[in-house]
Order: sequence, then structure tokens, then C-alpha cells
Amino acid sequence: MKNILDANLVRLAYFATLALLAAICAAPAFIIPAHAQQPLPAALGKLPLELGAAWYPEQWPESRWNSDLTLMEQAHLHFVRIGEFAWSTMEPSEGVYKIDWLERAIRLAEKHHIAVLIGTPTAAPPAWLTQKYPETLRTLADGRKDEHGGRQQFDWSSSKYREFCRDIVTRLAERFGHDPNVIGWQIDNEYANDSEGANTRQQFDDWLHAKYKTLDNLNARWTTSYWSQTYNSWDQINIPGLHRSENPGLNLAWREFVSDTWRSYQRNQLDAIRAHSDKRQFITTNMMGWFDAYDQYTVAQDLDLASWDGYVGTGQLNVEDNSARHDLVRGFLRKNFWVMETQPAFVNWSQDNNALNKGETRAMAWNAIGHGSEAVEYWQWRSALNGQEQYHGTLVGADGTPIPLYTEIQQIGADFDKAGPALAGTTVHSNVALLNDDPSRWAIDWQRHNKAFDPVAAFMSFYTPLHDAVRSIDVIPDTARFDHYKLVVAPALNLITPEAAKNLEAYVRNGGHLVLGPRSGMKDEDNSLWPQRQPGPLADLLGAHVEQYYALDETVPLSGDWGNAHDNLWAEFLTVKSPDTRVLMHYSSLTAGSTISPQPLRAGSAKVPSLILVPRLILSQ
Ligand code: GLA
Ligand code: GLA
Repeated sequence: MKNILDANLVRLAYFATLALLAAICAAPAFIIPAHAQQPLPAALGKLPLELGAAWYPEQWPESRWNSDLTLMEQAHLHFVRIGEFAWSTMEPSEGVYKIDWLERAIRLAEKHHIAVLIGTPTAAPPAWLTQKYPETLRTLADGRKDEHGGRQQFDWSSSKYREFCRDIVTRLAERFGHDPNVIGWQIDNEYANDSEGANTRQQFDDWLHAKYKTLDNLNARWTTSYWSQTYNSWDQINIPGLHRSENPGLNLAWREFVSDTWRSYQRNQLDAIRAHSDKRQFITTNMMGWFDAYDQYTVAQDLDLASWDGYVGTGQLNVEDNSARHDLVRGFLRKNFWVMETQPAFVNWSQDNNALNKGETRAMAWNAIGHGSEAVEYWQWRSALNGQEQYHGTLVGADGTPIPLYTEIQQIGADFDKAGPALAGTTVHSNVALLNDDPSRWAIDWQRHNKAFDPVAAFMSFYTPLHDAVRSIDVIPDTARFDHYKLVVAPALNLITPEAAKNLEAYVRNGGHLVLGPRSGMKDEDNSLWPQRQPGPLADLLGAHVEQYYALDETVPLSGDWGNAHDNLWAEFLTVKSPDTRVLMHYSSLTAGSTISPQPLRAGSAKVPSLILVPRLILSQ
């Protein structure tokens, strides 16, 4: 019940905004021929829509493979992802390579008209490797080393580990880079864990040195005179992981370093694959929706294809939430993407691993396609008889025969086969863009000021009603090209770099319509406060600035051109500087004892009518 109420409140929240925007946005187009938008990735498999599963042939006797592939073919599955996590089978001891079994699996799949995507096995190093070269094990924030037996226990910055990755990936690429039945590569699996040992720290120092050039520059940009933080030598700068609550400039620099380190970790494998493979084989990695340990645009930029793992976990499919994540991932490279993993009915890692309802798995698959995915892959085909994920949803049971969901998957596969040709070469077209900025999300999360202010929830409070109204939304970074959008909305764009400010201003000056949400334009590219009030470098354009922001502990009413409203989370009132700026809403009557005095709240400038600051509004009806 609570969820329903919350959702309705959120829908109401921006109804007023939407009324205003209705005039701006013409009727949306949904799917248009791709050639009218951006080009599609080179070659994405054999069919326009792909259905597949994660398959682990190394976990089974070869005599079983044919039955598995037969059942897959009968379910209209057209690809399998194999190989990721199979390093100990591919290289059972140092320098001893056994990859003929992969060749046999690929050939057998081919007989069943099933293409293969190879996952590089580097998310799970074999025991001999980390035992003999302990420097390849990740160092946890408290200084302890991770251990063998799980996965992602490697140090992503270790040159030794990267050598081993390059070696095994080169061998795979040499063998399968021209294989006609191999359609692409997935590098590693769900990059997530950084490492915080001496090795990483040295690299972080080097990275800071390269970025800031001099310590004087770094000290000035981080205002390290605050609390005597001034650095006299680079090696005095700690990894913030050790203290967590650090100078915001250091926090941001660390996350950027983490992002660049994942990028170079990935580049190491990417170069090895590219050196030995046909161009038609795409290279991707499976990312994770809103996951924010690194900047996803930084990591995605070198890939041919963006892909992600979309799970519901506990509960049922939340269409808006799921759609926003698809749109986010489509925005990484601004083109169609793949759903590289999703749940067959249920997972094993959530609080309550309930199964999706009948038909819901099918609805999820089509929601992905509707938002620009070209493939849906189920994790996984069958559970290993032992290992940590015995309870996860699958398509066949422990006995190797179909479970009840199999029929639904078969139906999805048949649908995909039928609809595929009609959708081939299409992509999503949107008139409205929402901006996502990972540094802004980090900065707010580090200093929420109101603990209920979740930056993703702030994003969704705009996304949900807009998605309801126009159906098709692009989610893009603030440095993307905006000129073809009728409306650009920046929810909680806390950090505005000079480059982004220029981009946003040019869009508005050329007649674009920009809406800035709360907490926008407070900080710069070092996570320092702009020396102007919000929206910082856009204040002149608005003809107004934020006089004061407030984390609310009570409900504050508002009224004006958009009707009556209230908010209970965040307020910002404005001082209007330009005579041309039009105020649309005011804080109205206030409860006794409030520190907020009645003030003009939001302004749209008549001179530049298309830049509007909007509050969180919950309409009173
Ligand atoms: C304490 C400290 C100050 C400052 C304030 C903030 O009183 O002494 O330096 O941090 O808290 O409330
Ligand atoms: C992640 C991983 C998979 C598997 C699934 C289970 O997405 O990438 O290897 O563990 O979770 O839901």
C-alpha cells in the first residue's frame, strides 16, 4: 500500500511541470528507423532480437551438452554466453592451457543454431594464481587481503594480474577471434571492487600528480587550508577509503581515479581482443544500472556495445524503475544495448527471493526491447550442482528437464523470432532528455543534508511523470549534444563543470528548454562550492539565484501559477535579479516557528523563458 501511495504522490508531484511542458513537447515518436538516429553497433549477432542464456558447459560432462543445447533451441534461444568464471578449467595450472573444450562447445552450439558470446574469465582467478602471486589479491579497506573462494578477489590495479589477464584473453582471442559462431566478447563480469593497497596508493598519487600538476594547485582547488589539510608531498594524500569522511575534492578525485583504473583494466583486455578478432565481433562488459562505484560513462566509452544486468530481486517488476535503467544504459553509448543478464523468475541474493508472476518475465523482456535492448539473456540456464548460487532461478532443474517457467521463455523466444525482422534496424527516438551525472550523485550521497534526499529518487521523481506523459526518454550526460531535444531536464545536477555550463547555456540560448531540479549548480568539477549562489554558472542566464536552501523537517506549502503544492524534503527560495524574470510559484503560508520566510520561490526568466528552476512539488489538488 505504501508503495502505491508513494508512487501516486510522485506522479502528482510533477503534474504541474508537465502541464507546462505539454505545450513544449509534441506527441512523441516511439521507435523510428535507426538511420534517422545514430548508427547501430556493427554486427550484433544473427537476428535482430536475441534471446539467450548464461551457460556453463565446464560444470557438466560433455555428454550432457547436446541435451542442453537441444532444449535451448526448442525455446528459441539464439545465443549463449560462456567462459566467464571458467579460468581454472581453461588454465588448470600456470602456463597449461586447456581450451579445446570451448571449441567443442562452440561447434556443438553452432549445430543447434546457437551463437556464442565469450566472457573473459578474469572475475574469478584460479587458486594457483593468487597463491603464487599474492600481490594479485585485492587489499580491503582495512588492509586485509581478500581470499580465494569467492570471486572479484583480484587487485584491479596490479600489473601482475593484468599480465595474466592479457595472456589468457590473448589466447582466447587468437583461438576464437575469427570464429564464425562467436558474435562477441564480454570483458570480466560486473566490475565492482576496488583495491586499496600500497600499489593502488602509488598509482593514485601518480594520477593526482598528472591531473593537478603541482601540489599548490591541488591544495588551492581542494581548499586544504581548511583543517590544516595542506599537503607538502604527494605521498601524504590518503585513499579516502581509509577514512570515508574526507575532503569532498579528495573523495571526487578518488572516484575519478577508480573510474579511470577500471577503464585501463578493461582496456588491457580490450586491446588483446581487438588485436586478434574480426571487427564484426563486438566487445562489451555487463554493467549494473545505477551502480555508482565508478563513472559509467568513463568506462563505457571504449566499448562497442553497452550491456547491463537487470534484476528485480524482491517484489515485482516496477516498470518505471526498470525503464529508467534501460534508458540510462542506452545513454552510455547513445545507441541500442543488450540486457546481458536477467532473472528467470527469481534470484538467490535478495531479502525475499519471490518468483515473478506468470507473464511477468515476458513483460520484462518486452520492456527491455521497447527501451532499445536488442537482446535478453537469462542468468542462468541451469544451477551448478554445488557452488554459491544453487537456489537461483534457472530454465531447467537439477535433473536437466524444463521447469515451469521454460514455457514462458519459449513463448518469448517465439515472439522475438516473429517480431525481430520488423524491429531490425530500429532504435528509440526521444524528444525529452534527462541528465544523469555520476559525480553529482556521488556528491549528494556524500553530503545528503537531508537523509531522505536520495539522488536516484530525485531523478525518478522527474522520470516517472515524464515517462508516463511522453513514453520515450533519453538519459544522457550533461556534456552530450542536446540540440535535437525539445526539453532537457537536469534533476539534482549538483556539480556543473564549466564545460557542462557552456553546453547547457548554448542549448538554452539556441531556443532549447531546460529545467533544473533542486540542488543544481552548487559545485564545480572539484566538488568545490561555486563562488556564486546556485545555479552557479547558470545564475545569470536564469536572472535569479537561490537565496537559501533548506533541508525540511516539516511540510512547506507553495502556491502560484501551477496551483497549490507542498514539499517535505527540500526547499530553495530564490532572489530575482532580473526584471524580466517571472516567478511562477511562491512559498505561501508557513507554520509558526519556521525559519523560512515567505519568499519568491521559482523563476522563469521572460528574457530567457526556457530556463526554469523547479522545486520538488507535491500538488495539493
Ligand atoms: C564543532 C566544531 C566546529 C564545527 C562545528 C560544526 O562545534 O568545533 O569546528 O565543526 O562543530 O557544527
Ligand atoms: C550477477 C552476476 C552473475 C550471477 C547473477 C545472479 O548478475 O553477474 O554471475 O551471480 O548476479 O543473480
